[in-house]
Amino acid sequence: MGDLILAIDSGTTSTRALAFDLTGRIVSVAQHAITQNYPQPGHVEHDAAEIWQLTDRAVREVLAEVGDRIHTIGLTNQRETVVFWSRRSGEPLAPAIVWQDRRSADICEALRKAAHEPRVQALTGLLLDPYFSGTKIRWALENWPEVKAAADSGDLALGTVESWLLFKLTGQHLTDATNASRTLLMDLAQAEWSAEMLDLLGVPPAALPAICPTAGLIAETRLYGRPLMICGLAGDQQAATIGQGCSQPGMAKCTYGTGIFMLANAGTTPPASGNRLLSTFLSSAPRAYALEGSIFVGGNAVKWLRDGLGILDTVAESANLAASVPDSGGVTFVPAFAGLGAPHWEPLARGTLTGLTAGTTRAHIVRATLEAMGQQTADLIDAFAADGVRPSSLRVDGGMVANEWLCQDLADATGLPVERPRSIETTGLGAAMLAGVGSGLFDALSDAEAAMVHADRRFEPANSADARADRRKAWGRAVEQTLAGL
Ligand code: G3P
Repeated sequence: MGDLILAIDSGTTSTRALAFDLTGRIVSVAQHAITQNYPQPGHVEHDAAEIWQLTDRAVREVLAEVGDRIHTIGLTNQRETVVFWSRRSGEPLAPAIVWQDRRSADICEALRKAAHEPRVQALTGLLLDPYFSGTKIRWALENWPEVKAAADSGDLALGTVESWLLFKLTGQHLTDATNASRTLLMDLAQAEWSAEMLDLLGVPPAALPAICPTAGLIAETRLYGRPLMICGLAGDQQAATIGQGCSQPGMAKCTYGTGIFMLANAGTTPPASGNRLLSTFLSSAPRAYALEGSIFVGGNAVKWLRDGLGILDTVAESANLAASVPDSGGVTFVPAFAGLGAPHWEPLARGTLTGLTAGTTRAHIVRATLEAMGQQTADLIDAFAADGVRPSSLRVDGGMVANEWLCQDLADATGLPVERPRSIETTGLGAAMLAGVGSGLFDALSDAEAAMVHADRRFEPANSADARADRRKAWGRAVEQTLAGL
């Protein structure tokens, strides 16, 4: 029996393999960047073949170092991004449509106008926004003849990224309820495909994967020299919630990766948001749901400062530059590159940079960009509070929280203590914990949590309530400007 768990974390900007020991330490890691394709404004595509090849490469690199010690595999992934492939050839039929892609905005608008949203929200926990897979699938069936032809002949397989990777790893067509709950196609309370939603969106049931538990004997891969069982499966934000140890109702985490995703454990029944938050599946054993606020642009905004504007050489430089000025000099940046997500849900919004003067320097713009992370988080905290969820602290993770200036600003912007774990790779950790339970290395998720989840630093709010409120007002005005005239 091996003493390590391999986590595969196939994210939006990179795909990685990580070997965790049973105390939650990473002993080996391999990572490859995913190519982002922007064929026209509002469209974002990935090459599913590349996702598979680079994931397979990362797995082989980690196995070359510690392969004989791997006991089981956990898989986690960017959610909502949808892949279309041929059952016969096992190859993609079209580009993967990425979660940030807005091409189905018109389909969503038509469904909203036809008054479908309340029923859709009650059934799926989601709203009618192009973010979710269902309307992307309908768009593909209407616009890509090869996808439609495969659907008509029964050759079409579709699914989110975990389904694609599981198909390549094991030959089986599977998903789990955390990922399925992001498609607009799953009945959230039943954790089964909804015939009503499939009908509404025109999705052929035969093209869909089977929904399996988040932990258990899910499927075996024989690609790597000896049989390895995949025993954990969850979408990346749910995995991060588990990896942050948010096992009790009311506990919340916020991940700062490509986007920003805040999830609060909501207990054993689906929460009903009155404030345009999402209700989503968290884990199957024990059955738990979460309330979620999804924001489309987080770390992407800092990457844009580096690659688009060219005012940063490295992302890491942003912390010192932000700290080099006492404030943003009146500059506010709303990074709505891909529309606004929660709680606004406005797919047509685009970014705005306001308050520029002849005295504005790149340090002010960098600071305003980092401050946007705290303000967007505070928008979510307000919406969660309006839904009756008031976490006593915020557990943070994701690549951006290596930046301590940002962590302090998150505490200042939200007025909540911010807790950072020892390993900010909580997504992979959560997948490893699920696989640990599913393979029997741990009896329950609570045992995996006790062994593998460790706190690191706590950042207390250090500004006055007045200062916090002034910044909230300036942000609110900038968001209004972003939304004006749409
Ligand atoms: O819902 C989208 C989310 O799963 C993407 O996560 O970490 O790849 O930005 P990430």
